[in-house]
Amino acid sequence: MVSIAVNKSRENVAMLGIGAYRPQRIVSNDEVCEVLDSTDQWIYERTGIRNRRWISGDETLRSIAAAAGERALVNTGIDRSKIGALILCTSSWLKLTPHGAPTVAADLGINGIPAFDLTSGCGGFGYGLGVAADLIRAGSADYVLVIGAETMTVGLDPTDRGTAMIFGDGAGAVVVGPSEENGISPTVWGSDGENAEAIAQDVDFLEFMNKAQAMQGTDPAIEPVGRMSLRMEGPRVFRWAAVTLPRALSDALEASGVAKEDIEVFIPHQANARINDLMKKNLGLADEIPMANDIENTGNTSAASIPLAMEEMLVTGKAKGGQLALLLGFGAGLSYAGQVVTLPPAPTEASF
Ligand code: UT7
Repeated sequence: MVSIAVNKSRENVAMLGIGAYRPQRIVSNDEVCEVLDSTDQWIYERTGIRNRRWISGDETLRSIAAAAGERALVNTGIDRSKIGALILCTSSWLKLTPHGAPTVAADLGINGIPAFDLTSGCGGFGYGLGVAADLIRAGSADYVLVIGAETMTVGLDPTDRGTAMIFGDGAGAVVVGPSEENGISPTVWGSDGENAEAIAQDVDFLEFMNKAQAMQGTDPAIEPVGRMSLRMEGPRVFRWAAVTLPRALSDALEASGVAKEDIEVFIPHQANARINDLMKKNLGLADEIPMANDIENTGNTSAASIPLAMEEMLVTGKAKGGQLALLLGFGAGLSYAGQVVTLPPAPTEASF
């Protein structure tokens, strides 16, 4: 009987280091309102956002993903030849082929490793972290670089009251690897395709091609379709979040075996400060437990928001390496993913 080999598995994994990149251009609510029919006051009161970052100049999704990845590698102090896989969590890589991760790996000097994109909307980082932890546990890689990177403003309609004031650009990354004590709980994750249209592109590729074909031979000056923009039924997502996320948070605690009282830091996806305040209150986390509020000056950066928020808390001292944190990503899909983790050490090379 021929037996097929299996990898040597291990149990304990953790985030060993973190890095981030914030685009240089800071865009205030007032600047957004030069085009959008809204006000600084409305935006701050309803979302908690004052500023966000937009890419400019040479900055691209590829460059900011690589910059965050580079900082994560440097801050971890790891010999990069040990990285066994790269996961690029993003919904804003604009080509289906080639996908982004292999080029980002090449930019980081680790060409040749397994590298793939993971698309799960704003829940993307939680999915990526869970997959990375399980790859390492299963022995498929020793160290995995997980990058959450988004250029949400590329597909943004600056006149759309449902999205224009919310989204921003940025990238954050962590190195996941073996550790003495376990630092990443089982992932609690799920999706709800019945509400998929609540966050969606307004034009899909098939529609684009059909319209382009239908217009062949008509006035060549006519644009086949306009630009592709993201639309969000905000109140519908808000209602879904209010029902789904409290359950996800308590399931994440249960799966981790960590008591609510032992959680030291809360780092939810930075979608809306009001959602986060509600989640913290409903979960019954003590007032003094620090909660990420990177949304105030970074906006909603989708799959990049959790590593960016984690980096901000570690750099400013609001959180410390080794503390127990509860993470939860959620958004398009609709989907969510959360874990209890121990935080990586504060980065020596910060993003601001
Ligand atoms: O990251 C992915 C996951 N995403 C989320 O979790 C997003 C969840 N949803 C949200 O964050 C919120 O729904 C939004 C921030 C998008 C919108 O806030 P809201 O409090 O749900 O506003 P609304 O759409 O219910 O509108 C309330 C009022 C309306 O006016 P009336 O009918 O009360 O007179 C809107 O016309 O606010 C008005 N409004 C605005 N006013 C100024 C809606 N959008 C705007 C705007 N500026 N941008």
